[in-house]
Amino acid sequence: MAEKIDTPVILDHNLWGTLTHHCASDLDHHGVADGPDRIYMDYNATTPVDPEVIKVITDALTDAWGNPSSNYLPGLNARDIIYHSRDTIARMVGGKAADIIFTSGGTEANNLVFHTAVEHFRKSKTSAEGGMNSQQLNGRGSLPHIIISNVEHDSIKLTAKHLLKEGKADVTFVPVSKVTARVEVEDVIAAIRPTTCLVSIMLANNETGIIMPIKDICQRVKDVNKQRATSAPRILLHTDAAQGIGKIRVDAHELGVDYITIVGHKFYGPRIGALFANGPGTTTPISPLLFGGGQERNFRPGTENTAMIAGLGKAAELVSLNLAEYEAHFLDIRCYLEEKLLAVFGKDKIHFNSHFSGSSILPNTCNVSILGRGLQGRRVLSTCRRLLASVGAACHSDRGDQPSHILLSCGIPYDVATNAVRISVGRSTSREDVDIVVEDLRDTVEQLERMN
Ligand SMILES: Cc1ncc(COP(=O)(O)O)c(C=O)c1O
Repeated sequence: MAEKIDTPVILDHNLWGTLTHHCASDLDHHGVADGPDRIYMDYNATTPVDPEVIKVITDALTDAWGNPSSNYLPGLNARDIIYHSRDTIARMVGGKAADIIFTSGGTEANNLVFHTAVEHFRKSKTSAEGGMNSQQLNGRGSLPHIIISNVEHDSIKLTAKHLLKEGKADVTFVPVSKVTARVEVEDVIAAIRPTTCLVSIMLANNETGIIMPIKDICQRVKDVNKQRATSAPRILLHTDAAQGIGKIRVDAHELGVDYITIVGHKFYGPRIGALFANGPGTTTPISPLLFGGGQERNFRPGTENTAMIAGLGKAAELVSLNLAEYEAHFLDIRCYLEEKLLAVFGKDKIHFNSHFSGSSILPNTCNVSILGRGLQGRRVLSTCRRLLASVGAACHSDRGDQPSHILLSCGIPYDVATNAVRISVGRSTSREDVDIVVEDLRDTVEQLERMN
């Protein structure tokens, strides 16, 4: 993956209400003219940090600098803040404080789950030898088997591929249905083998916003677990909820998962993360990736990043308090955006890449193609004067005009997928912003069509 050079962006807090962003340079490193009138609609890539979160972080940096493991006042202050934060984050996903393990971000949380699953398989195999038949315990059959979808984020997909390449696990990449763009429950169940030890399916896709049937998958896998008794490892259930949290309700027990990946920078928090594990070390296994000073009950040692943990807690609190309002706002703005696009371009020129009958979409995500020659998503975005959006995952921004493999996997035709633009709206995106952006898109398309 080529290294990305990011355009420095300065948030103008006076303009926070309208979420206008001021770019520090007039010309970014991709040669795109930027200015103070840019409108950011790429909230699935990342979100700005909420001012209340910034305040909590700043206060913690000033007041809670003590080492949380120290037994004098500055240490105790830090410890208190971390406990409070852990509790708030747990509540956001319907868990208990003890279920939260702080990590550097989503990538680490996902890696921790996969590492744990492989270790869990090894330990269950040792304790259940004799339970599995000899074919399962020898050769390929003795490898842990992991099930993921074919539209997971790279931090899942590449972790799985690495295990596969190193001969440490077998992996089934369950394709999403081309009718619903979701992973279908029956396909997951059909992929289960006696050696399956982990099912990891994202809660919502980062490019399409399609919401996966996690609850149904978990119910069915739990039935399999019950039938398995001691003869095979328990299948652990994980969902990467990076894109779901802060946009839709996420409750571990309602979903029935053992693990949830939590990513702060997707819900106006700092760039750290956490892993929810239902009773880590007791009900649900955790095998650490790191070894050190015993912090996080040895599940993830290293002196705690108190200030960022405090900020993550505040961001979680805001989600718990305001989710209904955020969700309603996102939906209103996205629907308005879709109506405007249809009104301006006409239904024959617009294709919504996330509209699949029977599937739900994240309320803030609009993946749209403006149909026609020379209207590749990347070209459109680099010509737009106001809109800041992306053609897909930020970590794939070096892929030229190649369409997103995720859209192709969902059955979107090649030419349509090439023109895709992902527009993801945020808490402060207004209808006026939408009006401006759609006008910008219309001017851009007219300009590009004249050049054809
Ligand atoms: C679905 C999904 N999972 C995981 C991640 C990775 O999180 P992080 O950037 O904190 O490592 C992202 C971030 O883009 C994501 O969208």
